[in-house]
Amino acid sequence: MKKSVLTVACGALLVAGCAGTQEQMEVSAVALLQPRSGSSVTGTVKFTQIGDVIRITGEITGHTKGPKGFHIHEKGDCSDDKGMSTGGHFNPHKHKHGGPYDPVKHAGDLGNLVFNDQGVSKINFTVGDISVSRDTPNGIIGRAVIVHAGVDDFTTDPTGNAGGRVACGVIQG
Ligand code: CU
Ligand code: ZN
Repeated sequence: MKKSVLTVACGALLVAGCAGTQEQMEVSAVALLQPRSGSSVTGTVKFTQIGDVIRITGEITGHTKGPKGFHIHEKGDCSDDKGMSTGGHFNPHKHKHGGPYDPVKHAGDLGNLVFNDQGVSKINFTVGDISVSRDTPNGIIGRAVIVHAGVDDFTTDPTGNAGGRVACGVIQG
């Protein structure tokens, strides 16, 4: 697990000073996405824990224009050439599929990334329900990020009907 410069700076302060400024603790993990299902989709996704919230940043290229499903899948195994070895959506609470801000959803339901005319999506948003850790029920390190061929409808359970899996990357802390 990578700890940021901010964390190091915090450690140099008095312990009592750090305890009152939780937002200074930033722990991050990264997934490097490689093409699957014959696509040219690649990119990098970074997850940064800021208190109870996760900021997701990065850039994906090589897709077609429009919204495309974006999930954390259960197993950190991208070995299959269609990404099927990652299993289903990460779902520690045994919920039904939904959108990223729906009250009922899989923890791994990150919504849709919107790709522009050049097939690029710049990522920068926040979600709850997951943590940048390995040892908690909602921890995402060691799981996989998947980008899909089509749009997630936030309704069809358990897949969102988002089509094939066109990029895959294991979340590494
Ligand atoms: Cu998915
Ligand atoms: Zn889902």
